[in-house]
Amino acid sequence: MLEITRDVVVVGAGVAGTTAANELRRAGLSVAVLEARDRVGGRLWTDTIDGAMLEIGGQWVSSHQDALLQVIADLGLETSPRHRAGDSVYIGRDGVAARFSGDAFPVAQSTRAEMDAIMARLEELAAGVDPAAPWDAAHAAHLDEISFQQWLRGATSDREASDAIALVVAAALLTKPAHAFSLLQALQTAASVGGFANLVDADVILDRRVIGGLQQVPLLLAERLGDDVLLEQPVRALQWTDAGVSAVAATVTVHARWAVLAYPPVLHERLTFHPPLPRLQQQLHQHLSMGSAIKVHAVYDRPFWREQGLSGTAFSPYELVHAAYDNTNHGDAQGTLTGFVSDVNADELFRLEPAERRERILDSLARYFGAEAAEPVVYHESDWAAEEWTRGAFAASFDLGGLHRYGADLRTPVGPVHFAASDLAGIGFQHVDGAIRIGRDVAETIIERARS
Ligand code: FDA
Repeated sequence: MLEITRDVVVVGAGVAGTTAANELRRAGLSVAVLEARDRVGGRLWTDTIDGAMLEIGGQWVSSHQDALLQVIADLGLETSPRHRAGDSVYIGRDGVAARFSGDAFPVAQSTRAEMDAIMARLEELAAGVDPAAPWDAAHAAHLDEISFQQWLRGATSDREASDAIALVVAAALLTKPAHAFSLLQALQTAASVGGFANLVDADVILDRRVIGGLQQVPLLLAERLGDDVLLEQPVRALQWTDAGVSAVAATVTVHARWAVLAYPPVLHERLTFHPPLPRLQQQLHQHLSMGSAIKVHAVYDRPFWREQGLSGTAFSPYELVHAAYDNTNHGDAQGTLTGFVSDVNADELFRLEPAERRERILDSLARYFGAEAAEPVVYHESDWAAEEWTRGAFAASFDLGGLHRYGADLRTPVGPVHFAASDLAGIGFQHVDGAIRIGRDVAETIIERARS
């Protein structure tokens, strides 16, 4: 076993870990980054499948994500907008595919009015929530005791109105059923992107892509760290005292003054801590769970939907694929549709054989875009729940009641051990932007401690 000594050991070479490590190095501290996988990037992974470049994990960049936009510019990367010209498609309770433009679903006027009223109420509630400290909001405990679904159904008897709003937060973002998380968690999620108006507007939230793939961000950040990033080094044990830590990985042990654990909080149980983490941390980690989503990539010889005046954007609370987007690569002659299957629908599909799953998913895409959608030349399903070092998609959130009970301790260091991952972020929660912010915050805290 190789033994090395650094000021800081960072566990995980995703965006949060590589950001923290660069900031620490800039301040003159030495670092070693231990990464379990044989690649850098974690939940960012740009891969080529059957000749098609696909974003297996995170990819979209929003116009309000200043931290990420700044890093993209700093690394010299370029972005291109998501194709969105043309009509979108919505399938309502009646099962009919309806074309629409703008961000208001083409529902009955009464349903539209109900949705507007609920959204206004949610916006008002979200305005009172600091995304970095939702547990401090007025009536936080109460807001955290009620499920988002229960609140929505209490707010309206119009089932399509509540289903359509649940779609945006539950299926599309937290990727959990709306009965499984609280109203407070929904409000924090909205507050973390600047409010519900941003959350429901695909043009804001899914604005641009990095040309060549978003994984270049952590790859280039890791490149700056050179040999201090060690791959295929899953950390299995962390020994710690107030004086320092030793991280024991596959073939290397790093002794350091501080540690940054930069992976989703559901993975803490994969490490043995000596001594164990304090009881509060052990408890709180049990109340966080990953969402679950299948990201589907269907590549066609051309973006055929554009010929029909369709944008490639589609939504339905009642379809297996609850949302789809034109995800054609910049400058590519082939056309790509990316769809998402979330939570209980994903569970159901994973019980099927791959061929049947593919058929069900493509049938769903065809209900939005016509029969041609069922005949892709390349087809791939991103399956992050099967990944040992992630265990779900897109990220972790608290179960009902957990946010106000444990949230305040989520980012509290334990002796020399600090925590960083997009799942713990305030602004940018569950997003790459949040991973950058929390990586910077943790580095800043350690730099202050090093100077004091
Ligand atoms: P991340 O999980 O990326 O990194 C943690 C690293 O730690 C991993 O490399 C892992 O292997 C490593 N690790 C874990 N345990 C270890 C151990 N014991 N020892 C050593 N290493 C260990 N976001 C966004 O902004 N726009 C988007 O469009 C999307 N879309 C999206 C789609 C899909 C399918 C997914 C899965 C996710 C997204 N996201 C997203 C979310 C985004 O990808 C995510 O929030 C960040 O990439 C998380 O970065 P972190 O560095 O926090 O964790």
